[in-house]
Amino acid sequence: MTDLGRRPIVDLTDEEARRKLPLKWGVPADVLPAWVAEMDYAVDPVVLDALARMVADGITGYPLFGWDPELAESYAGWSARHFGWAPEPEAVHPVVDVTAGVRIAIEVFSGPGGVILPIPGYNAHHGLASVTGREEVHLEVPASADRAEIDLDRLDRAFADGAQTLILTQPHNPWGRVFTRAELEGIRDVVVRHGARVVCDEIHAPLVLPGAEHVSYLSIEGTHDHAIAVVAASKAFNTAGLRCAQLVVPDPDARQRLLDQPMSRNESYSSAGIVAAKAAYDDGDPWLASLVERLDQQRALLGDLLEAHLPEVRMRPLEATYLAWLDASAYGHDDAAAVALERGRVMVSAGTSYAPGAGSQVRLNIATSPDRLTEVIERLAKAWT
Ligand SMILES: Cc1ncc(COP(=O)(O)O)c(C=O)c1O
Repeated sequence: MTDLGRRPIVDLTDEEARRKLPLKWGVPADVLPAWVAEMDYAVDPVVLDALARMVADGITGYPLFGWDPELAESYAGWSARHFGWAPEPEAVHPVVDVTAGVRIAIEVFSGPGGVILPIPGYNAHHGLASVTGREEVHLEVPASADRAEIDLDRLDRAFADGAQTLILTQPHNPWGRVFTRAELEGIRDVVVRHGARVVCDEIHAPLVLPGAEHVSYLSIEGTHDHAIAVVAASKAFNTAGLRCAQLVVPDPDARQRLLDQPMSRNESYSSAGIVAAKAAYDDGDPWLASLVERLDQQRALLGDLLEAHLPEVRMRPLEATYLAWLDASAYGHDDAAAVALERGRVMVSAGTSYAPGAGSQVRLNIATSPDRLTEVIERLAKAWT
């Protein structure tokens, strides 16, 4: 059994990272990967122990179908400890991953009208509306805005024009923003006025950095009849490949509609994903505290490195996540990510994956070692300037 006390963050070597993170590190040997949202850190030993015990016990059967009381209790306990609010366990249902959870929530709970996606928006959220047969309605935050916010007047107009659902990512990827209670209440008021729905992707909630506080949308009064949250331990604990997220469905009628769906709509979460999520929720707090401390240090280092090497890059404060949204337009490249790869041998995520026309912006993953982050910024400076 692993010691449950404070556990440090262990950096993966390049060789280890290449083996353990095949997508992120599946790049040519001379390229430094700073793109997909995975961390170059060893997984919390508590999570690995739980998985090892599962395999040693030969537990390879199907997971419970539909509702897993232990997983539900684990998430409710976690949410109470971390966010000061907990759903009743009956509200928490497994789903294969967050992206599928957002899709299922739209399919099962939303009207046929358009789906509003604030942009720049997480790349896999683009196209989700059309997969469900609905129109995708963009609510754009201009690159010039000092603060990335949801404009309530424009949200109101989008609903008035027929949209019926808002995808609310909070904390936001790639804005790096944590929405305040007042902002969330403002969004709720507009949504309620139009009888609309909110699907709230809170996968980054464990990754709020010092200085900000996560407020679950469902903890706001008057949200339970119109909102579903999609949550997971997988982003914060680096277990995305194990496939398990959770839908939080506080409205009993909506929950019943979910349970009444044909099995084929939501049957593919894995036993390993459930074991990992439970271990993370029950015993992962000490490791997560170390992680947040490390990410806070990486955030400070990024600020110093940008000032020294890329002073013209514009970046809004990073309040949560390890994903920084860099506006490099001052350096004049139409496709800053391509230039970074060609000239700097650094893989960052292209801004155009998050918003049409955002080619001079990139998303940078800072969840790595200080040495690698330093090298990444030095290479970007060489490429862009
Ligand atoms: C906002 C957001 N939602 C969902 C995901 C993906 O989650 P999953 O792999 O569970 O679909 C990510 C991945 O980075 C994300 O940033």
